[in-house]
Amino acid sequence: MKNENGFQETASLTVGGKTVQLPVIIGSEGERAIDISSLREKTGYITLDPGLGNTGICKSQITFMNGEEGILRYRGIPVDELAEHSTFVETAYLLINGILPTRMQLNKFSVQLNDQSLVHEDMKGFYQNIPPRSHPMGILSSMVNTLESFYPILKTTTKIEEINTTLTRIISKVRTMAAMSYKISRGHRVVYPRPDLCYCGNFLNMMFDSPVRPYQLDKSAIKALNVFWILHADHEQNCSTSAVRLVGSGRVNVYAAISAGIAALWGPLHGGANQAVIEMLEAIQANGGNISPFVERAKDKNDPYRLMGFGHRVYKAYDPRAKIINKTAHALLEKMQISDPLLDIAQKLEQVALKDDYFIEYRLYPNVDFYSGIVLRALGIPTNMFTVMFALGRMPGWIAQWKEDADDPNWRLYRPRQIYIGQNTTHYIPIEERV
Ligand code: CMC
Repeated sequence: MKNENGFQETASLTVGGKTVQLPVIIGSEGERAIDISSLREKTGYITLDPGLGNTGICKSQITFMNGEEGILRYRGIPVDELAEHSTFVETAYLLINGILPTRMQLNKFSVQLNDQSLVHEDMKGFYQNIPPRSHPMGILSSMVNTLESFYPILKTTTKIEEINTTLTRIISKVRTMAAMSYKISRGHRVVYPRPDLCYCGNFLNMMFDSPVRPYQLDKSAIKALNVFWILHADHEQNCSTSAVRLVGSGRVNVYAAISAGIAALWGPLHGGANQAVIEMLEAIQANGGNISPFVERAKDKNDPYRLMGFGHRVYKAYDPRAKIINKTAHALLEKMQISDPLLDIAQKLEQVALKDDYFIEYRLYPNVDFYSGIVLRALGIPTNMFTVMFALGRMPGWIAQWKEDADDPNWRLYRPRQIYIGQNTTHYIPIEERV
């Protein structure tokens, strides 16, 4: 790959008495990486990067983010433009197919999503037999894995139509499955998808419509949900997306790869943070709104406690998604005439943290999860389903990333190495001789 002056850049590395030249890969936004894929072969050395903070695991055309400047673009389009003008379905198409759809393509995609939106009736039985206290993320991960038994079309097939049907099926059915899971957990009758409703409207209706209280769809709620899901639709090589790529590289079926992504997202340092933020804000509320003990704990190096919804591995500036979701939260609450005391606490906490030397020094700004829970609460989503909402939004991203790997003729099994620091050769001791 040539640089701006038309030269192939290389990096020179001297190690173990040998100097080797390694190619430099230059991304379309000028980011540079040293390609170390031949390093071990040439020198006998590997690289060590716990947490993978300096390791690129792939070349990708899907999402660009710049953490220093707070930039996020899907297929080149700034996320704020998509949040303002697009819908979740259109953004999903963009991520998976690489271009914005024409009207005809979008209609076809919407029809496919509608056609795929029912789930096999036997799946209800699974939900009914899951212990009632199970976390919805564990349920979703298991149920997506189960889809392979009900719809076993795609394994490692390369037939484009079959792949598209399977990918559309996942996006459409997870929404129905999440709402179905919620209804069954409450002991209520399942509400089926309707062909006259949009993707987001359908989800809200399946969640909240009831024979005794028909659900009134509200335009501002649909808009807020579209924005929420657009903002979560992809985020390049984060923990769950890397899990999807890694598990998928073993050529397992795509449902299992996505199921692994859901499991990875569950963690409180990743997608689980949106639930943890609300729990933290509620704890502050229960403490009479007194923020300072929470901030002090987060700064105390002897205490593992962290301010949830603050900090990001890549963003060292304000997370661009946080700005948009903050605006969305205010607009939604105003339109719905809701007053949420947790929003006031969140704003107060943000102001305190942004002026605090610790947060300034560590460059810890609010991330997407900080305000997203306020939006979800206003929509009526129960707190334990917040991370499921993140997962539904991330579906197109996981699928696009899986597909990018699967379409790559050089797709290889992901197999990192390690530096072994354990016991050297020792020998088996019969049990009676052990002390
Ligand atoms: N509160 C207090 N201290 C923090 C925080 C926080 N929220 N985040 C990082 N730090 C400190 C941390 O204690 C460490 O200090 P030291 O170097 O003195 O030990 C330093 O900053 C670096 O932390 P790290 O964990 O090595 O950094 P990271 O880049 O791996 O962390 C993070 C990224 C998101 C895991 C972390 O900022 C965090 O735990 N935040 C809270 C959880 C959260 O909001 N997660 C949602 C992330 S955005 C949604 C998503 O994309 O998944």
